[in-house]
Parts: sequence; C-alpha cells; structure tokens
Amino acid sequence: MRYTLPLGSRPFGPLCIMPQMEVVELEPRPTNRDNRLYGASELSGLSRTGHQSQRRPQHNQDPDHDAESTVAVFPDELDRILEKLVIVVPCKDEPVDVIRGVIAGIPSRCAVILVSNCSHKHGENGWEAQERMLAGCCAWGREGCFVHQQYPGAAMAFKEAGVPEILDTASGRIRNGKGEGMYLGIAMAKSYFPHHQYIGFIDADNRIPGSVVEYCKAYAGGFALAQRSAAKSGTEHEDVMVRISWASKPKYSASTGRIEFVQQGRSSRIINSFLNRLFAKAGQQDEFITTGNAGEHAMTMEMALKMRMANGYAIEPFQYIEPLLRNKIPSANLPNASQTTRIVQIKTANPHLHRETGDEHIIKMWAAGLGALYHHLLGVDSASGLGTTTLATLRKDMHRFALQNGAIQGQEELPRPNIYSSLDNADLDSFRDVLGEPCSGHVYGGLGFYGLVDQAWASSGTNSPASQSTLEHDSWGEDDQRSSASSEEEPEVLSDSSKQGE
Ligand code: GDD
Ligand code: MG
Repeated sequence: MRYTLPLGSRPFGPLCIMPQMEVVELEPRPTNRDNRLYGASELSGLSRTGHQSQRRPQHNQDPDHDAESTVAVFPDELDRILEKLVIVVPCKDEPVDVIRGVIAGIPSRCAVILVSNCSHKHGENGWEAQERMLAGCCAWGREGCFVHQQYPGAAMAFKEAGVPEILDTASGRIRNGKGEGMYLGIAMAKSYFPHHQYIGFIDADNRIPGSVVEYCKAYAGGFALAQRSAAKSGTEHEDVMVRISWASKPKYSASTGRIEFVQQGRSSRIINSFLNRLFAKAGQQDEFITTGNAGEHAMTMEMALKMRMANGYAIEPFQYIEPLLRNKIPSANLPNASQTTRIVQIKTANPHLHRETGDEHIIKMWAAGLGALYHHLLGVDSASGLGTTTLATLRKDMHRFALQNGAIQGQEELPRPNIYSSLDNADLDSFRDVLGEPCSGHVYGGLGFYGLVDQAWASSGTNSPASQSTLEHDSWGEDDQRSSASSEEEPEVLSDSSKQGE
C-alpha cells in the first residue's frame, strides 16, 4: 500500500490523532526512496516536521506523483501483520451470499470471527446457513469462529467473567446491538486467538469484496507505519487504532435516476462535524476528523482489551473520546499498559457500497453517536487541552441539533449509552472455560470453530462447546419472532431484493 504522508498530527494529552492518509497505490512498486527506507529497515518518518513539512506538495500537485510525499508498505510487511490480525464481522439478517462476499475479501492469513445476531435459525439466510457458509470458507485452511450473540453459553461466559452488565435483564442473553456484538467478538478473539496482536471490524453488508481486501491491508499498513514511527521516536508502548474513511459512498438517487458518489454518509457527516469542532486547531475548524463513525476500524489487541466500549452504534464515536476520559480504572492485567493512543485515519481507494438505510435509521445513529459524546465530554481530562467552554458549547449545540432534526423530542436528553467495562478487567479465563475447547467442525449449534489448529487447546480438561450446546440449550435456536434489533434499533428496511421473502 502506498499512502500520502500525514502531516500535522494533533496531540490531546494521551491521545494523538493523525490527519487522514490517502491510499494512492494498492500494489506499489518500490522507488529508490522506498528502497532506501525499507531495505535498510529505516523508518520513513511518519510525521515530518519543521522545514520538511514546508515542502508539502501544493494542492494542485498530484500526491502520488511525488515520492517524497508518500510512504509505502510492501507485501511481506503487510503479511506479517495480517497473520496476527483477527477480523470480526458483525452480522444480522444479511443474505448469506453477501456475508460470503465479505469473508471472501478478508485475506486468508487473517482469522475471522462471525458474530451473528440473525433473527432466525432456519432457511437459506438463517444463522445455521451463515455458520455452514463460514465452515465452507474455512475449508481451505483459514481459521474461523462463528458465534451467535444470543447463544446462551456466551451469556453465561460473560456472567462468569464478571461482565453481567452486557446481559439483558429480561432474557438473560447478551443485549442486542452492534457494539455488544463487537464486544463479544473481542472476548472471543482474546480467548481463541491468543497470539493475534490486532483486531479489526468489517460490516457484513458490504457489497464489494475488493474493498474488504483493501480495508484489511489498510489496517495492516497503518499498524506497520505506526510501528516504524514508534521505533523512530523511541516510543515503547503505544495503542494504535486505524480508522477507515472511503473514497465515496455510492447511493442511488431517485430524483436523478443515477448513482451518486457522495463523500461521506449522512451519519458520518454530522458526527465528524462535531468532532472537528472538538479537535479543531487554534479554534479553526477544518476537515481533520473524517472517521468519527468508522464502522471499519482496527486496533491493537491490547487497546481493544483496555478500552471501555459503548453499546450499539455509539461504539465508534465513543472511541474518539474514551482515551481522554478521567478516572479510568487501571488495567488489571496490563501493568505496563501504555498511556498514549494514536489514531491513524486512512481513506481507501475503493468506494463503500452497503445496504441503504432509511431516514429513521440515520436519525437514530445521530442520537446514538451524539449521545456518546454529549454524556462524556464533561469527563474529558484537562490534560487534553480541550477547553471547558468549548466542551459546554459543543454539548449545547449537539442537543440543539438533535432536537431540531427529530433525534430527540421536547425535553428529552440525548440517549446515554451503556458503557461496558474494559475486558482486561474481566476474567477471560472463566469466559473461555465456560465456552470450552474449540472443536473444529462441530455441529451447527450457535458456536463453531473451523480450521483452528492451536495446540494449546489440545488439553482434555476443558468443556466442549458442542456438548454444552446440546446439553444445556436444547430449547434454544428455534426460529422466533424476536427481532435481532433492540427496541432502540429497529430493523431497517433492506433495499436488498434478495432479502425479500425472508
Ligand atoms: N452481531 C451484531 N449484532 N451485528 C449487528 C447488530 C447486532 O445487534 N446490529 C447491526 N449489526 C451489524 C449489521 O448486520 C451490519 O453488518 C453492521 O453491523 C453494520 O450495521 P448497519 O445497520 O449496516 O449499520 P450502518 O450501515 O447504518 O452503519 C455502519 O456504518 C456507520 C458509519 O457510516 C455501522 O458500521 C456503524 O457502526 C457506523 O458508524
Ligand atoms: Mg450498513
């Protein structure tokens, strides 16, 4: 991958946000300069300063024609990171063929965890079919795991791990929501892929497998560059998160009868505009933050375990301010946990084409995203340098925007997100003990492991998930009327024709 060089990172106490880098070549050929930097394991200087940054190309200069303004990561370096990357794909009722396309795009070096909250078991697009599809995709050697969010063993595992707040009090199962699915994915990744150092997320409704390949490589390239930069500056320990923005989001416009390639989605536009006010430099708002809502993002496993996570669609905006919050509970299992978090923003060359959602869904995403910021801005550490007046004004404006645009009514507050504790304070040994040893290719019961060859699991003392699913949860898994969306996240109408008739 070749990227434009990001110039002008902004530090906010423990958080360092890098300006967006753009993918300018997917498969670069090394230039003399790259050879010099790369061949000698020298570091490219991710963020140049002073005199060098003044040599930044003019706006009318094509960045990919200027080797000085780009930085490249080549296949063997990408592959080293992809080998250690687990990709979590949260899904609901997407057609199995669409999910298969997403899995097909994930480089086979990466492990895959499909976390489903599909509302029905049977039929061509039920979760049994999703699980079978994943098993098929893993038949060529990929490591994979399927888990249903409502799998009773998963709820039990979180209870044993000391995270009961993730459970719905009425059903006793894991709550509905994308954030909750991702949280489960992180716990599964740590438990079953203990040697993987990175975790990434990719939505299941992506219609372009080629863009999925690019997201994964962009993640790996972002980590590689952050590593080079950390080594150069002598930073020992840094949490790194890579967030993706897209070249465009194609949308069908009924009024023009054409596909329009809009720059930002309707939800991202709003969340980014508030984050840009928050992270403005010297009070001057610009388009520095492009990834406030990035559903496609990845982070070091350490960071994923350390971060508290918000529920549903609040999860991504919350990640921007979580590193800034005061009174963080120290990480129990990571005594040397880092103090710095680096956010790397990458704009891909591919567009992002996914399921169209209606206005109602977007309004709920505004409410969820703004609510995640609104309720936590006052807890932001003063070391961040963010002024209290700015924070108070922003909160007022967020509330006003939500009110004026129907995200809240009358005297309502913005929704306060559920915040789940960091997983490194959870007892993940117990979590894993409850779910048991991964048995490759077992029956389709809501939890399945495919192509797993980790010898650490050869021990005979642990429970088998297959036996648990049959012994304890016989009544589970029949098709039900339960929607996979929570009451605050109504299922949106799929424009997918293949969805009809399900
Ligand atoms: N496991 C699980 N559980 N997955 C879920 C759940 C859930 O309760 N709810 C949604 N998902 C999955 C969907 O199946 C889909 O694959 C993915 O999460 C994203 O959900 P969408 O409903 O397609 O979200 P969106 O397209 O409106 O928004 C996406 O992009 C935004 C940025 O533009 C999401 O990724 C947002 O989180 C993101 O902010
Ligand atoms: Mg979507």
